[in-house]
Amino acid sequence: MSREPMIAPSLLSADFARLAEETQRVADADWLHVDVMDAHFVPNLTLGLPVVEAIQAVSPVPLDCHLMIEDPERWAPGYAQVGAHNVTVHAEACTDPRAVARDIRAAGALAGLAIKPGTPLDQYLDVLPDYDTLLVMSVEPGFGGQSFIPDVLAKVRTARELVDTGHLKLLVEIDGGINADTIEQAAEAGVDVFVAGSAVYGADDPAKAIAALRAQAAAATSG
Ligand code: DX5
Ligand code: ZN
Repeated sequence: MSREPMIAPSLLSADFARLAEETQRVADADWLHVDVMDAHFVPNLTLGLPVVEAIQAVSPVPLDCHLMIEDPERWAPGYAQVGAHNVTVHAEACTDPRAVARDIRAAGALAGLAIKPGTPLDQYLDVLPDYDTLLVMSVEPGFGGQSFIPDVLAKVRTARELVDTGHLKLLVEIDGGINADTIEQAAEAGVDVFVAGSAVYGADDPAKAIAALRAQAAAATSG
């Protein structure tokens, strides 16, 4: 079945001293993926709400905020309030995933649920009707430039099947190690939105890299 693949470059691999210019370099992307890390949920610290608000003001591309933070109940709606298009929280960090989704949507954004490579999808199937996106992590969250973990594609296939049979209505997103060598298998498994950090910002021409990834994903699902 053919779907329009969406490419979401991850700002984590961009030059943090030039964030405004870096958003312009990926102007033809579908979403701009912004990794928020708090040094507690993951062993790394990136940026938070004031910086996301500043990026939102200049980005030509809708923001896809990936919150790798504890206590998402408290912080997630703020990202929606400053205008993020999609706000994703980690299932492992939520005490009440349904309530978080409700609050994110009420604040005006799509709501996303992320699961780490070792987190089973099954235990969250009952909350997914409240979500607009499912982010399947294909590396351990925390750092860019890691190797893709193919085992997670089983979860992508399950989610794809549930969407295609009308049991769920959401976009399936994958994050971690997506590049020219891995995007085809992810596309075949049923991914809609492909996050790519180093493969886009590490390229000489990010716009070209986006176009090439999109074409590869489209080719893998056509026919
Ligand atoms: C990792 C982040 C990813 C990261 C992906 O915790 O969630 O978004 O930027 O980077 P690459 O594409 O280089 O694996
Ligand atoms: Zn991410």
